[in-house]
Amino acid sequence: MFNLILFGPPGSGKGTQSEKLIAKYGFKHLSTGDLLRSEISNQTKLGMEAKSFMDKGQLVPDAVVIGMVDAAISANKGVNGFLFDGFPRTKAQAIALDNLLDSHATAINVVLALDVPEEELIARMINRAKTSGRTDDADESVQKKRISVYKNETLAVAEHYSAFDKVVTLNGLGEIDTIFTSICAEIDARA
Ligand code: AP5
Ligand code: MG
Repeated sequence: MFNLILFGPPGSGKGTQSEKLIAKYGFKHLSTGDLLRSEISNQTKLGMEAKSFMDKGQLVPDAVVIGMVDAAISANKGVNGFLFDGFPRTKAQAIALDNLLDSHATAINVVLALDVPEEELIARMINRAKTSGRTDDADESVQKKRISVYKNETLAVAEHYSAFDKVVTLNGLGEIDTIFTSICAEIDARA
C-alpha cells in the first residue's frame, strides 16, 4: 500500500494533480474539502456546521474532519493506497492520521509539497471563482484568510513529517503536465 499526502496552500494545484494521479495510479482520493462540499450540497447537519467555517476561510474543527477521514479509510479497505488532499491541515490531524493508518497496519510514505508564490495563488483563486461556485473563492478577504490559516496552522503538518524525513518540496508553478511529471518521478522512486 502506498499512501501519499499532496500538500500545499489553497490554489496550489492539489485537486488538479490529484485527478491525474488517481487516473494513473488508482489511488483512493480523499479530499476533505470535497467531502465537506458534498455534505453541504446534501444539506446535512455536518455540512451546515462546516459551511459556517468554510465561508469565512477558517478550518472546520479537527474532530469533525478526523471523524470523516476515519470513516472513509474504514470504508475503503483493500485499496492500493490513499491520496490525501487538503488533509491533514493541523498537527493534531497529522497525529490522528498517523494513528489511524497505524491501526490499519500502514503509514504515510511521502508528503509532496507544492510550492507556489502567493500572488499566483490569489490569481488562480480569482480565476477559479468565475466558474467554481465556491463561496470561499469569491471574496478577497476570505482568500487572504485561507492563506494566513495555511501559514499559521497548516505549515506545522510539513514540520511534523519533516521530522520523519518524509517531505519533498516540488515547484508548483508552470505547466500542469510538467508538475505532474515531477510528482510521478517522486512516487515511482518510492513505490
Ligand atoms: P479545500 O477544498 O481543501 O481547499 P484548499 O486547500 O483551500 O485548496 P483548493 O481546493 O482551493 O486548491 P487546490 O490546491 O486543490 O488547487 P486546484 O487544483 O483547485 O478546503 C476548503 C475549505 O474546507 C477550507 O478552507 C476549510 O474551511 C475546509 N477544510 C478542508 N479540509 C479541511 C481540513 N482537513 N481541516 C479543516 N478544515 C478543512 O487549483 C486551483 C486553480 O488553479 C484551479 O482553477 C486550477 O485549474 C488552477 N491550476 C492548477 N494548477 C495550475 C497550474 N500549474 N498553472 C495554472 N493554473 C493551475
Ligand atoms: Mg482542492
